[in-house]
Amino acid sequence: MKPKILVTGGTGYIGSHMVVSLIEAGYEPIIFDNFSNSKRSVIGRIEQITGHKPKLIEGDIRNEKELSRVFEKYQISSVINFAGRKAVGESEVDPLLYFSYNVEGTIVLLRVMKKFGVKEFIFSSSATVYGDPGYDEFDEETPLSPINNYGQSKWMVEEILRKLYKAEPDWSIAILRYFNPVGAHPSGLIGEDPSGIPANLMPFISQVAVGRREKLRVFGNDYDTRDGTGARDYIHVLDLVDGHLAVLKAMNHKPQLLTLNLGTGNNTTVLELVHAFEKASGKTIPYEICARRPGDKNACWTNPNKAKKVIGWQAKRDINDMCIDTWRWQQKNPNGYPD
Ligand code: NAD
Ligand code: UD1
Repeated sequence: MKPKILVTGGTGYIGSHMVVSLIEAGYEPIIFDNFSNSKRSVIGRIEQITGHKPKLIEGDIRNEKELSRVFEKYQISSVINFAGRKAVGESEVDPLLYFSYNVEGTIVLLRVMKKFGVKEFIFSSSATVYGDPGYDEFDEETPLSPINNYGQSKWMVEEILRKLYKAEPDWSIAILRYFNPVGAHPSGLIGEDPSGIPANLMPFISQVAVGRREKLRVFGNDYDTRDGTGARDYIHVLDLVDGHLAVLKAMNHKPQLLTLNLGTGNNTTVLELVHAFEKASGKTIPYEICARRPGDKNACWTNPNKAKKVIGWQAKRDINDMCIDTWRWQQKNPNGYPD
């Protein structure tokens, strides 16, 4: 029998790619999503790619009854928790919403897991938990100091997981700190579909390329980087989900608390990404230099050694792959998923 993996947030950007990879790797993903930031048409796309329609339960991870029903019905082996909200600006305007979705939601999920004796859990954290330690290359020992409510919510869940593991060391828990996920499935059928104006760089660039936005605003060109614009560790979403598969294999229900950065170890500036996207798409990306965005750091990337050593994983795809796949998705779906 195929191991059943509950994927909360499985119709979202990273979750949908995870579901495809789980199916291809011989698992049975069960999606649990409240569609607060995703579209139902994702399911048909996953079926088109894999030839398999994943099971889907509509519900909110903060609802203990809805979640319990899933665990009653299916013998879940492990849980990957992508469900949550991720917009930094929104988290500053509505902290209660963020702590409810991200912290309360995860507590309810962990409580239900415990009730049903399911103790393997993978959590989507973020490099944002590091804040600005005064240097640019972050390893897993870099001190944690998140500077916004979104980052705080991730840090709080991490703390809860560390305390849970201390009190109940039979859990198998992975905290994965993602750097900057970008890219899309090479089929062009699934990808990132932000609602409203994209807050992040890659979706903004691709919407300019496709003609949905007039020009990119580059937030600052006076940083201490190769060309003065901010540098980040962009990671292809397929490499990211491969990392999760490697984590699942390495965990294998052995009691542990594993904390890993998932990034490439490289960094790319805003203007380097603009030029790479222009090359991949054959489009010109008009841009203007604007003031720095408050809270932004000049540069950050991961030291990828721990992931390589502990789970034998490293990212394979480069910036060109990330731009080509993003562009294919954007071109095929200029307005994102159909409603
Ligand atoms: P996303 O918004 O595309 O996906 C999240 C999914 O969870 C959506 O389908 C949404 O409908 C669902 N969801 C949200 N709240 C829910 C709830 N209470 N109950 C059930 N379903 C719920 O986001 P994503 O980019 O796929 O990110 C997935 C996870 O990874 C998030 O936790 C995010 O914070 C984390 N993360 C993302 C990034 C990034 O840049 N994309 C970086 C670091 C960490
Ligand atoms: C953002 C989030 C971070 C989250 C991460 C996930 C903020 C403040 N931080 O980080 O919490 O974990 O995404 O991927 O939102 N840029 C522009 N113009 C734009 C958009 C971005 O110049 O329109 C620049 C930024 O200044 C930065 C770089 O592009 O230098 C990347 O920005 P973004 O994609 O928002 O990612 P992060 O800032 O790393």
